[in-house]
Amino acid sequence: MNADPIIGIFDSGVGGLTVLKAIRSCLPEIPVVYYGDTAHMPYGDKSPDLIRSYTRRIVRFLVDRGASHIVIACNSASAVAGDIARQEAGSRVPVTDVVEPVVQEVAQRSRLHCVGIIGTRATIQSGIYQKHLAALRPDLDVRSLATPLLAPLVEEGFAGTPVAREVIRHYLKNELFRPIECLIPACTHYPFLFEDLNDFFWGRVTILDTPHIVAHAVQKQLSDRIVSRQNKQSESPVQVHFSMDTLSFRQLCRLFLGSDQEITESPLSSLPD
Ligand code: DGL
Repeated sequence: MNADPIIGIFDSGVGGLTVLKAIRSCLPEIPVVYYGDTAHMPYGDKSPDLIRSYTRRIVRFLVDRGASHIVIACNSASAVAGDIARQEAGSRVPVTDVVEPVVQEVAQRSRLHCVGIIGTRATIQSGIYQKHLAALRPDLDVRSLATPLLAPLVEEGFAGTPVAREVIRHYLKNELFRPIECLIPACTHYPFLFEDLNDFFWGRVTILDTPHIVAHAVQKQLSDRIVSRQNKQSESPVQVHFSMDTLSFRQLCRLFLGSDQEITESPLSSLPD
């Protein structure tokens, strides 16, 4: 088995950079290829068929660039296209989605009685979190709500502003969420809103750090394939591709990866179907 893996990560846009950052902090020696499908963002309002078609092409793109492990850093794609990603990656390239590690984490919190889930329409309507949690923790009271405006707000740079806080208030003042003790931000864009969400709940609700939960799952899965850190001198490179140039993608890439990070436009339309 290849002792020097390459991780391929993809998302519909900037949200997956939160997962990339968490993976880099656990596994700085592993090279990464990232694809942000900015041209088709938001995935959350697209049909499952469209999301599956984008996913298939992106997975092929990442595998062609040497990815030996794929991370679907997008909840909407994880919810409706995990099977197609695994099929496209083939048996030699494991695929980690963002749903399973979070479900496992929640299920093992035995003192938890009521959990809230927010995400895109695609994720919430798929029922994937609800189904998997019901299988592992049938006693858990699970409440879910689609919050489709939040990801575009983040993509447009509104996290941490009164606009974001007002939209959060509009969604979460819903009676449904009153008894929750823990919130699953089931969208890779939502970690940017962590402070705003925490302020809304006055710190009384545990908001899961989903990027780190996923990063630790990837670290565990790769543990037998990682060459000892002692043999590696510095951070491995990150290749960043996106399907359409957007200002927020460039800005957040620089913020997360440094101002000299190279970013390549690789439109999905030029990738084979
Ligand atoms: N990355 C998507 C997700 O985690 C959110 C943004 C979108 O709708 O594309 O579901």
